[in-house]
Amino acid sequence: MLKKRNVIGPVARSLLAFRKEFLWVGGFSLVANLLTLSPTLYMLQIFDRVMQSRSELTLIALTLIISAFIAIMAFAEWVRSRLLVRAGVRFDQQLNTQIFRASFDAKLELSTGDVSQTFGSLTRLRQFLTGNGIIAFFDLPWTPIYLAVLFLMHPLLGWFGIGFTLILALLTFSNHYGSTQRTLQATKSESEATGWLNSKLRNAEVAEALGMVGKLKRRWLALYRKQIELHASAQLRASQTQAFSKFVQYSQQSLILALGAWLAIHDQISVGAMIASNVLMANALRPLGILVTTWKEFIQARQALAELGTLLATYPPRDDFHTADSVQGQITLQKLGATATQREQPILNELELRVESGEVIGIIGPSGAGKSTLARCIVGIWPHTSGNVLLDGVDIRDWSRDMLGPHIGFMPQDIELFDGTVADNICRFSDVDSERIIAAAKQADIHDMILRLALGYDTPIGQAGRLLSGGQRQRLALARAIYGMPALVVLDEPNANLDDAGEAALVAVISALKQAGKTVFMVLHQQKLLALADRVVAMADGHITHIGKVDIQAPAAHIARVRAAT
Ligand SMILES: Nc1ncnc2c1ncn2[C@@H]1O[C@H](COP(=O)(O)OP(=O)(O)OP(=O)(O)O)[C@@H](O)[C@H]1O
Ligand SMILES: [Mg+2]
Repeated sequence: MLKKRNVIGPVARSLLAFRKEFLWVGGFSLVANLLTLSPTLYMLQIFDRVMQSRSELTLIALTLIISAFIAIMAFAEWVRSRLLVRAGVRFDQQLNTQIFRASFDAKLELSTGDVSQTFGSLTRLRQFLTGNGIIAFFDLPWTPIYLAVLFLMHPLLGWFGIGFTLILALLTFSNHYGSTQRTLQATKSESEATGWLNSKLRNAEVAEALGMVGKLKRRWLALYRKQIELHASAQLRASQTQAFSKFVQYSQQSLILALGAWLAIHDQISVGAMIASNVLMANALRPLGILVTTWKEFIQARQALAELGTLLATYPPRDDFHTADSVQGQITLQKLGATATQREQPILNELELRVESGEVIGIIGPSGAGKSTLARCIVGIWPHTSGNVLLDGVDIRDWSRDMLGPHIGFMPQDIELFDGTVADNICRFSDVDSERIIAAAKQADIHDMILRLALGYDTPIGQAGRLLSGGQRQRLALARAIYGMPALVVLDEPNANLDDAGEAALVAVISALKQAGKTVFMVLHQQKLLALADRVVAMADGHITHIGKVDIQAPAAHIARVRAAT
């Protein structure tokens, strides 16, 4: 589970780094807002001066000045939008790699969770930071100034302005309390429905073959309908508020004109001031009006900020990593325990084992004994462990993953291939090194098969390697595991889908690794390959029940004896 820790952490800190830009935006907002007053002053001058004096020259001079002011105002607005867009892009750049890394870390922990939405959150946050909503926040401090000018013109106009500002502010608040929860629930339920559907689409074949599509559809519809209903309800509430806010804004235009006219009739203000007050009022209320209409984006951005903050605080960037010139592949387990969320019993209990570099270890045991979990712990990807897994005497979690990656070969029980070419998959998406790729493929005995594919090593294998057969996928995963002859190779049931030729290739691979002095762990159910192991580790129920040399002459009888003893 994502823990709610320091929410203000890294994302807010990234935002704070842009305070200089925000100050500039504030500065340009000041210029833009000051100059928005100029058409009003112009109008006053026209009515009160030009109309009285009937001087064309004054009219021309005033018009030239106002044109210049309006041009400067438009320029200031353009510059501040540009500043915000640029800052938004840089903000995104600062965070996206951290979020990428943290999403992978989170996925290791929540193997069933959906972290694909994190980049959607980042986009929502960036769009808000560069959109109209945020500009309204910069314009908002000007509302009291416009109101003050209204007061100067006539106190009644000022009070009138305050009244309408309060009504709109109340609307913003009621919008907040009425629709915030609904918007948040709708966004959450939308990502639930999408995540659910994506996970089921991955198993489309099984769903179709077993006639599950209809039942899945019913479940999905329930989730989907809930999301639609929540969205609709949030939308209805928001549109209600927006309609009312529009009513308030339009009616204030007429009402303030009426008030101005009444004051003008009684010679309290001039006709120019009457019209100017109308414009001032519109300016004062504009930011609040924008806030009412963009409140949903604000709420979503705030939610995105909290989500990303939690994600990055829970999975902070790892630094101070251990690096070394070479990796020997010596593994020591010290009181190694493994647990999982939503499970009370530990999966592994206080395992102790020391494996010298160059040893080949066979791990056996019944289904559910914890073999795959141990394999994951050895390569350092199981998130909840106690005790230690030491690689060359250093905790596996302290090693730099980037540095260590090429020295580790891992073949999980459920083979995961990536959407890309055959070559990309073998060389782990690093820079293509043809010689090493071909060497690995030849060792896994798939070179000829690859050459028979349409584009050879450049053939795309589709999502999760769909375009390959089960055995081909397994051999490709084997080639990937041994690419570059890593110092530590962990193979989880590597022969599950292999035919005789494939198994022969596997035997050759393990012998080659052994000869090259590499450490190999192999989880096995069949006993044939155990003859290659130097020692065998038998597991049951999360414990190591036996560690011993394999009787090379009769491995099957040996394993049977071990099993009988446990
Ligand atoms: N992510 C997880 N969350 C909770 N429990 C888990 C998780 N992964 C594995 N387990 C549990 O841990 C136990 C050991 O699982 P593991 O996959 O290590 O067994 P195994 O020995 O590899 O079995 P098999 O031979 O069937 O592959 C099982 O009881 C399993 O239910
Ligand atoms: Mg397993």
